[in-house]
Amino acid sequence: MHMHKFEKIWLIFGIGALVVFLSVVGVSAFYLGNKPPSCLTTIDPKKVDTEAPFDKPGLNKVEGKEWDYELVYVASAFFYNPGEVEVPLGAKVKVIATTKDVVHGFQVAGTNINMMLEPGYVNEIVTTFDKEGEYLVVCNEYCGTGHHLMSSKIKVVK
Ligand code: CUA
Repeated sequence: MHMHKFEKIWLIFGIGALVVFLSVVGVSAFYLGNKPPSCLTTIDPKKVDTEAPFDKPGLNKVEGKEWDYELVYVASAFFYNPGEVEVPLGAKVKVIATTKDVVHGFQVAGTNINMMLEPGYVNEIVTTFDKEGEYLVVCNEYCGTGHHLMSSKIKVVK
């Protein structure tokens, strides 16, 4: 079949547009479907214990970052590690959390921190604890028989 030069250009243009369209749809579907919006990093759930920062759960002082401390949590059925932690009043803290097994919640009562921890993903939120007191971390995603027992405590101290 003989084609005019003009028709060829339009054919190429059409295929090009289709490719661009499909990539845009594909990429958006990937981001919307496979990743919770607050999760940017992935992790192998089997390697949580040996991979930084989860090899050191708890409050760790950091230098040269926009926050003063990193508060690292590993959730698993049916507890959080650490189970209790002290945070200096007014400190800017990046909370970093993940789960080793199933989906767990991570809600800090009395604050706006409320995350869903999914295996394979790392949740992060930067916050400042500017009120003294005890904050309870609770699991608000049903995760099994010990779900109601899952909790941790953040003590904000002067
Ligand atoms: Cu963990 Cu519910």
